[in-house]
Amino acid sequence: MNEALSKLEALIDSRDVVVGVIGLGYVGLPLASALHGGGARVIGFDVDPAKIKALTEGTTYLAHLGEDMVTTLAGSERFDVTSDFGRLGEADVVLVCVPTPLREGRVPDLSYVVDTGRAIGKTLRAGQLLVLESTTYPGTTRREFLGAVMEGAEEAGRSLAVGEDFLVAFSPEREDPGRKSHETTTIPKLVGGLDERSTRIASELYRIGIKEVVPVSSAEVAEAAKILENVYRAVNIAMVNEMKVILADMGIDMFEVVRAAATKPFGFQAFYPGPGLGGHCIPIDPFYLSWRAKEIGHEARFIELAGEVNHDMPIYVVKKTASALEERGLAAKRARVLVLGLAYKPDVDDVRESPSFEIIELLRAEGAHVDYSDPYIKATWKMRRYDLGLTSVELTPESLASYDAVVISTNHSAFDYGMIAEHSKLVVDTRDAMRPYVSEMGTRLVRA
Ligand SMILES: NC(=O)c1ccc[n+]([C@@H]2O[C@H](COP(=O)([O-])OP(=O)(O)OC[C@H]3O[C@@H](n4cnc5c(N)ncnc54)[C@H](O)[C@@H]3O)[C@@H](O)[C@H]2O)c1
Repeated sequence: MNEALSKLEALIDSRDVVVGVIGLGYVGLPLASALHGGGARVIGFDVDPAKIKALTEGTTYLAHLGEDMVTTLAGSERFDVTSDFGRLGEADVVLVCVPTPLREGRVPDLSYVVDTGRAIGKTLRAGQLLVLESTTYPGTTRREFLGAVMEGAEEAGRSLAVGEDFLVAFSPEREDPGRKSHETTTIPKLVGGLDERSTRIASELYRIGIKEVVPVSSAEVAEAAKILENVYRAVNIAMVNEMKVILADMGIDMFEVVRAAATKPFGFQAFYPGPGLGGHCIPIDPFYLSWRAKEIGHEARFIELAGEVNHDMPIYVVKKTASALEERGLAAKRARVLVLGLAYKPDVDDVRESPSFEIIELLRAEGAHVDYSDPYIKATWKMRRYDLGLTSVELTPESLASYDAVVISTNHSAFDYGMIAEHSKLVVDTRDAMRPYVSEMGTRLVRA
């Protein structure tokens, strides 16, 4: 057996291992913290100078993770952070947590994965374990990621063989920012290597910081399992959203229907309707598979249909708002509308892919004057697709009363729903947040 790989195993066993984590965002930061917490020495790598600065100074930049995580890391001798990728060779294990977004036309953008692979290749040495964590379609680790590593190694004149000199695996992140019941250390971790030894050693590595590690037979199984998890959610959410629209016209409340069905103790998992999909994963990852499916001559019909249905939800919300205004004798183009919640889900400051932006743009396209209120997002900024140029409106009885309609897009628990019920002229509720106020509000409450 290769001596460098035996040494790697011994380092992992003794927890004297150096773990490099590339990409210190929603996924990389808590992962770095989990492994550091288990006793590993961690070097964080990122291209964003603001994150390097924050982690050096001990200031937090992801509120939902709490202050302690960053201050503990910044104050530890076993933690270091850098944007110098020349230092990747110092790490015995390199975990890659960079973005995997979509380009125009829902085409996977693997440029971050490929660039990172090349950078790793440039300093590649015998005895390293490389693990891709970024969500992607099956086959990426073996083809695109390893290919980029080998390219980088070749450019740097390093001749090393995968499986003999260094190891490669895939292990999907299953973060759900803001969820209180689970955290990185308690979410079971799937691990699939390019070969048996990669799976075994990568599993040992993760056991340093994660309670339950689940080895699978290949990187491709681990990649596909992650996509299945996200497709499952996208499809089920689309199904309840579609059913909500149908049942609404029959005068039936979909939220009550889901709760009723959920009393069945087996065979049903509750998914609730909403204003559309948000977040980094569910609106994006399924299309990684549908793109790859097309490449090999298949159509991923469930994924495409779920995409269509979920994409139409903000349009449905705006139509409902416009017709509720009309019923009150007010054209949408003359209305003042306040959208509650910019984040894509309650109690987080994450706005990625949030349907609230689409709702605001569509209301503006109708001619309405639109503002928003979100305690987690004080002002909007220029984004790839949106540049709203708004600042959050403070919720007071007066501010609420000054709008013709209030649209609840995200049900943050910090909102005072009693005040909203009392002082709003009209509430369009996409989240069932106003259920306790149904009788008090009467026709001033519309579900969408
Ligand atoms: N956010 C989630 O809840 C979640 C859950 C499961 C899986 N994922 C997946 O994990 C991956 C990372 O997502 P995220 O939410 O952590 O993204 P993020 O945007 O929060 O973090 C990515 C980090 O990578 C850095 N980065 C970008 N290019 C880099 C490069 N070339 N080298 C080094 N650093 C670079 C960015 O500065 C950023 O800090 C994605 O594939 C995503 O689909 C995310």
